[in-house]
Amino acid sequence: MRSARGRLRIVKVLVTGGTNGMGLGVARALAARPDTHVVVLGRSAARGQATIDALRASGAPAAASFVCCDLSRLADVRSAIDAIRRDHDHLDALLVNAGIGYAPARVVTEDGLDAHFQVNYLAHFMLTLGLLELLERSEHGGRVVLNATEFGTVGFDDLQLTRSWSYEAAIFQAMAAKRLFYAKLHRLYEAAPERPFVSCFGFRIHKTVWTHQLALIPWHMRAMATVARWLGQLISIDECGAVMAPLLVEAREASRARSGRLVTFQAGSLRDFDGAPPTDAAREDELWDASLALCDDDRTRRIARALAIPGRGP
Ligand SMILES: NC(=O)c1ccc[n+]([C@@H]2O[C@H](COP(=O)([O-])OP(=O)(O)OC[C@H]3O[C@@H](n4cnc5c(N)ncnc54)[C@H](OP(=O)(O)O)[C@@H]3O)[C@@H](O)[C@H]2O)c1
Repeated sequence: MRSARGRLRIVKVLVTGGTNGMGLGVARALAARPDTHVVVLGRSAARGQATIDALRASGAPAAASFVCCDLSRLADVRSAIDAIRRDHDHLDALLVNAGIGYAPARVVTEDGLDAHFQVNYLAHFMLTLGLLELLERSEHGGRVVLNATEFGTVGFDDLQLTRSWSYEAAIFQAMAAKRLFYAKLHRLYEAAPERPFVSCFGFRIHKTVWTHQLALIPWHMRAMATVARWLGQLISIDECGAVMAPLLVEAREASRARSGRLVTFQAGSLRDFDGAPPTDAAREDELWDASLALCDDDRTRRIARALAIPGRGP
């Protein structure tokens, strides 16, 4: 990416869950670009170091760095926001990707929340709000891209799924929560023309990706996935990375045009997904308020308040 003066401008992209699966595929595709620095966020320092070593070996030597953060601990998310704000004066893109998939039973985090709800959605809510100021400083056009699908609804009467839990229900609810989140963020930025615009949208992968999940699921599901792979119904993490990475580095105008939408890859190009369920402001607001209460964090509350009042910076 070249600046107006023709110098090479490094695009900085933070990828959550960049140590495995879809996130690793995207991180690899980005690190292969000479103009991109990938910040990988993950929960294991050892896997993080191995990922960064591999990215540096295959891409430009300064193309990657690591932030250790277990998204199942909100205290870790607060520390990660501090560390990223200390080490970076801006960010150009954030890929909200880390997530729990298959699980044999419901897990409650030390914050007292359903692990899927926290890792796949709520921790990212806090992380995103904490990093908006850096994204607003992007000269390239800040953006938040959320790995999402069209499935699921948010059960406001039982957000933590205490009455009825299945791993599919937990994954789908988090997907629905991410859709309400990017729609609300988009609405807030649209209503505040004095702020540098941060595009916020979802991305729906067009085919199932053969990821680390395959090592975690029961054998009968693995057998079915293996057959589907033979039939060409699954794609690799590198094919996934090649499709998704452009969303994180494309021009400001292209990114802005996607804001508030669910995007997919179809017939060889990135475009709006036709089957995105409608969202409404009342549910967006309800989830936003519930998320702020669950995070129970002064800085997050302050940022949210400032966003809601046009004319006030973060
Ligand atoms: N695979 C698909 O076809 C597909 C389709 C649509 C959407 N998705 C969504 O894509 C996202 C990634 O899925 P995937 O299939 O790529 O799964 P994956 O291979 O299991 O990768 C998940 C990533 O999230 C990280 N992660 C998990 N728990 C974490 C925590 N507590 N703190 C920080 N990082 C954590 C993992 O870290 P470790 O390396 O430490 O395990 C890993 O990097 C999920 O949100 C999933 O729902 C997947």
